[in-house]
Amino acid sequence: MWRKLKDHHEAVASRRIETMLDAARAADFVAQTGDMRLDYAKTNIDAEGRALLIALLDEAGVAEKRDAMFSGAPINETEGRAVLHTALRNLDGGPVMVDGQDVMPEVLDTLARMESFANDVRSGRFKGQGGKITDVINIGIGGSDLGPAMAAQALAPYHDGPRCHFVSNVDPADIAGVLRGCDPATTLVIVASKTFTTIETMTNARTAQAWMGQTVSDTGAQFAALSTAADKTAAFGIDPARVFGFADWVGGRYSMWGPIGLSLMIAVGPNAFRAFLRGAQSMDRHFQAAPWQENLPAMLALVGIWHNQICGHATRAVLPYDNLLARLPAYLQQLEMESNGKGVSMDGADLTIDSGPVVWGEPGTNGQHAFYQLIHQGTRVIPCEFLVAARGHEDDLHHQHQLLVANCLAQSEALMRGRTLDEARGKVADKFAGAELERQARHRVFKGNRPSVTIAYPQLTPEVLGQIVALYEHRVFVEGVVLGINSYDQWGVELGKELATALQPVVEGKESADGKDGSTAALVDFLQMHGVS
Ligand code: F6P
Repeated sequence: MWRKLKDHHEAVASRRIETMLDAARAADFVAQTGDMRLDYAKTNIDAEGRALLIALLDEAGVAEKRDAMFSGAPINETEGRAVLHTALRNLDGGPVMVDGQDVMPEVLDTLARMESFANDVRSGRFKGQGGKITDVINIGIGGSDLGPAMAAQALAPYHDGPRCHFVSNVDPADIAGVLRGCDPATTLVIVASKTFTTIETMTNARTAQAWMGQTVSDTGAQFAALSTAADKTAAFGIDPARVFGFADWVGGRYSMWGPIGLSLMIAVGPNAFRAFLRGAQSMDRHFQAAPWQENLPAMLALVGIWHNQICGHATRAVLPYDNLLARLPAYLQQLEMESNGKGVSMDGADLTIDSGPVVWGEPGTNGQHAFYQLIHQGTRVIPCEFLVAARGHEDDLHHQHQLLVANCLAQSEALMRGRTLDEARGKVADKFAGAELERQARHRVFKGNRPSVTIAYPQLTPEVLGQIVALYEHRVFVEGVVLGINSYDQWGVELGKELATALQPVVEGKESADGKDGSTAALVDFLQMHGVS
């Protein structure tokens, strides 16, 4: 199938997208669930290409693997684990069995405990030494930070709880900046770490503990933990009543639906959090039931595969015209690149096709005044994914929102249509003539034919955010299955961690840099000369 797709691409590569784009295509090259619409009409995928891409899904057994995932089979084969973040939002979906046991009673019990704690914090029933909690600090990194941090920002209009801060980086500038603005006597610290061993998180947690200890007599009383490692949270001194556990079948970057979402729940309240879960659950059901051509996650994955593995475009830009989604690109970088950035297939053989793409982006319209120059006129094609809401949350400023939407639609149109040399000449014919007109006009040409997709929705509510995140999670799953890789391990982060541990005493000046490569030794030398040790 890969061969057929590559041959098909070669045959159509120079075709202009806009020449295909009549009303029939505009109605056909979309997928919709509820009020969410994925438009991929502005790509070079035609009916034949789409059929070949859909055949890839069948060839890879995506439906069987999807059903295996939802049913609790150990599809994370390198770690021998089930992959069941979907169970965390299975609010009314019946039993989910892992090793012969229904996991739902525990999932729902933990959700109820989180809700009760969140309500206590929000109402002031749970107090710090100085009274009602005014600030919550979530200390975590990667999946224990990016999801809740992104979602807390996205749902800012629903935020009616205490102020919520996220500390992730081991760079002391991160935690110092947050602590400076908080009163220890009215702050709750949530240590979020699946393993409770991550060096950045544990270092920051101890820093927060020391900071609080200067004012608060019982610091443990103002700490909570989100982790699978109950022994380690106990050793840290956190009361089991404020420890919210989850099973190893919840991957770090898929974990914000459960305890890792506690800070978000405290910020927006249990009702909005449940709405977020319901939105994700509705996308799960759509992914399980909709035929491929109508299936948003499947089609988004196939568009990704077309652009990355078939056309050879190595990156994709995620461009939310929704400022509340400013952290979505960073969140997706972990979700997509930690999941599908693998060089070997499930059976350990080298991949014979490219792994997942580089994902990057910024909200529009900001990006337009920064990197869009390259997207429009650079020599490499960068497929773009636009996200846009029909309405913002600022009813009194709706005209400003209309300008935002117009910009979003204009960008995908400009990328596709471009501007010909003739049109460019027309733009400057009144200012230049002869050879200078030619030269000036050439700078104003846009080759166009640059593909994009648009995900449109009515408004960024908690339900819609849940749908968007679940859409991307399942897209990653589909791409991973088609590439034949395990999207649920992350061995590629290990080596750097090991070397950092070994380098710490060298940086501190307790061990010599002998044996390190010349560049590393020289950098240690330079940094030591300037005060690192
Ligand atoms: O280093 C990568 C990673 O393991 C991610 O996969 C994970 O989300 C992050 O570190 C944090 O891990 P933990 O929640 O165990 O602290």
